[in-house]
Amino acid sequence: MSENRTVVAERVVRLAAETDTAALRDLDDVGHGTSWPDDYFADSIERSDVLHLVVDEDAQLVAHACMHFEDDVSRVANVAVAESARRRGLADMLMTQLLDAAVLRAPARPCVLEVRADNTAAVALYRSFGFVPCGIRRDRYPLSSSSGTSDALVMTLDDPAMGAARRKDR
Ligand SMILES: CC(C)(COP(=O)(O)OP(=O)(O)OC[C@H]1O[C@@H](n2cnc3c(N)ncnc32)[C@H](O)[C@@H]1OP(=O)(O)O)[C@@H](O)C(=O)NCCC(=O)NCCS
Repeated sequence: MSENRTVVAERVVRLAAETDTAALRDLDDVGHGTSWPDDYFADSIERSDVLHLVVDEDAQLVAHACMHFEDDVSRVANVAVAESARRRGLADMLMTQLLDAAVLRAPARPCVLEVRADNTAAVALYRSFGFVPCGIRRDRYPLSSSSGTSDALVMTLDDPAMGAARRKDR
């Protein structure tokens, strides 16, 4: 066998399950520096108006993303990728799947999200799908490193179909 072979992780994208709760909490603790209430993930996994996707690589949960389908908007509620798995297109893939689902479910509804205003990686991710800033919510997030707070940037994407297509066309 060749010495230069490339090992490719087995990647599975699937719906989040109740058994993922601990892994999801760990992922978000690292990614966001925030601990969600215990019932946060269980609730999101059970609801029919929420699409919650996870990615396993070699049977390890390494990424997740979540969209809430509300009456007038589709809301990206969470995207997080394990540090060891970043910059390999996982958030890109999950966002594309969320937007595809939004197009199928509610093509005319805009997508919205909130992101820490200083989160340059996430803002760049969302901009790459065509999300544009439409407001600021002051002092929205507590800072884990101090007693201060951080503002949230509110972003919107009027046409989810265009957003999903924009990334696929790259
Ligand atoms: C933001 C985050 C989800 C990106 O995940 P990722 O899988 O590394 O992102 P991808 O590899 O799919 O990158 C997709 C695009 O996002 C942007 N991006 C991702 N990481 C970036 C970084 N460190 N700096 C600048 N842009 C970045 C780029 O536009 C990138 O496209 P490109 O590769 O063509 O440049 C990840 O860094 C993370 O989990 N951070 C902590 C949690 C978080 O902040 N979540 C978002 C707010 S809810």
